[in-house]
Amino acid sequence: MLEKIETGTAEIAVIGLGYIGLPTAIMFANAGFKVTGYEIREDVVERINSGKAHIVEPEIDELLRRAVESGNLKATSNPRDIEGKDAYIICVQTPLKDDKTPDLSYLESAVRTVAGAMKRNSLVVIESTVPPLTTVKMAGLIEELTGFKAGEDFYMVHAPERVMPGRIFKELVYNSRIFGGITPESAEMAEKLYRSFVRGQTFKTSSTVSEVVKLMENTFRDVNIALANEFAFLAHQYGIDVFEAIELANTHPRVRIHSPGIGVGGHCLPKDPHLLLWPAREDFGLIRLAREINDSMPLFTKDLLFSALRELNVPPEDAVVAVLGLAYKGDSDDTRNSPALAFIEAIEGDVAEVRTYDPFVGGSAGSVEDALREADAAVIATDHTAFKSLDWEKLGELMRTRILIDGRHVVENPPRGFLFKGIGRGEY
Ligand SMILES: NC(=O)c1ccc[n+]([C@@H]2O[C@H](COP(=O)([O-])OP(=O)(O)OC[C@H]3O[C@@H](n4cnc5c(N)ncnc54)[C@H](O)[C@@H]3O)[C@@H](O)[C@H]2O)c1
Repeated sequence: MLEKIETGTAEIAVIGLGYIGLPTAIMFANAGFKVTGYEIREDVVERINSGKAHIVEPEIDELLRRAVESGNLKATSNPRDIEGKDAYIICVQTPLKDDKTPDLSYLESAVRTVAGAMKRNSLVVIESTVPPLTTVKMAGLIEELTGFKAGEDFYMVHAPERVMPGRIFKELVYNSRIFGGITPESAEMAEKLYRSFVRGQTFKTSSTVSEVVKLMENTFRDVNIALANEFAFLAHQYGIDVFEAIELANTHPRVRIHSPGIGVGGHCLPKDPHLLLWPAREDFGLIRLAREINDSMPLFTKDLLFSALRELNVPPEDAVVAVLGLAYKGDSDDTRNSPALAFIEAIEGDVAEVRTYDPFVGGSAGSVEDALREADAAVIATDHTAFKSLDWEKLGELMRTRILIDGRHVVENPPRGFLFKGIGRGEY
């Protein structure tokens, strides 16, 4: 196996070709390995085999075309095409169910497919973010299904993915990586394989440490954003701009306060704290409270909007509200768990009309101008670069009532002639 990795002759199957799996498959293919991407969505398989990506990511079209044209990357929906591979890399989604407990059905089904296809001495890597102890459990499932012994007859590793959409191909190469093995030899094998394209530092540990590391990283960010949101809430009551206060506090050499805003979205941050807590018998409650604070921010934004409407005597039920931004983060088309959508859901039914515009996602209006024409309020829900240079004084001429709510600290100076309210910016 080691020799096959070192000579680039190891055959790899990547299971799940989404935001993480497809770029990973492309990296291995362009590093010279024969890669088979196994994906249950046939439309995705067809697109990939024709050299077209189904996700938006800088450089992906060119890199995918190279991988497919070289003959090193093929996608398939047929599990027989991944039989007898040297390495299996599982990149399926691990979402939450409605009750906020993890839905591991995709992972379990992927592990069953792998168990049905692998051979003795295969390396199985779980890249998906999973609750602590899951890799050990999945190794047990493979043992049950194959009769192989984990650590003796196959290698098993958790190798969490830490890339950020929009920078995936850079971060795949330069981020540091953790390889959590069920045995030290497993971690070593995965490290050798990934070293074919990873230039960042690599670390080896146990699978459970690796699972916890990944979850702690996102929980750290979620809790810190919640703290910033708490500071913003207090700042409103003291009539100060929290961003000025944060900037000054961050001049302290050991303080790094995050930014408050309309909420936390995306596939990872809102779910990973729940994955971290799930197998635990007890916890202190801090992580749960942080989740609740961040989930409440779209409602807080609604409070800002409604207090502004009341101040200008616009009955909310008559108000036309333009929401600028649907994606959960700037310059992205990803709307998964977007707080913009939670905000829209919170106001729909309470106002006369909600219009939406997002340069990456689309929306009900074709432009900022169309969204704002005869509107009573504009609410900025995403920090797209394009929203930073809007000429509000000119746009205000299109509006029926000039209310501007900034949920993302996009507007530096409140425009003249507007009733302006921003999260953490002055009284409310
Ligand atoms: N997206 C990110 O930025 C990011 C960053 C770090 C970690 N992660 C983690 O990586 C994992 C994957 O995330 P993603 O964003 O790539 O998800 P995704 O939904 O974009 O992709 C998952 C793909 O797997 C396919 N799939 C599901 N079950 C399958 C099965 N049994 N066999 C074959 N294919 C199957 C789906 O059809 C889908 O195309 C998650 O655990 C996530 O938390 C994601």
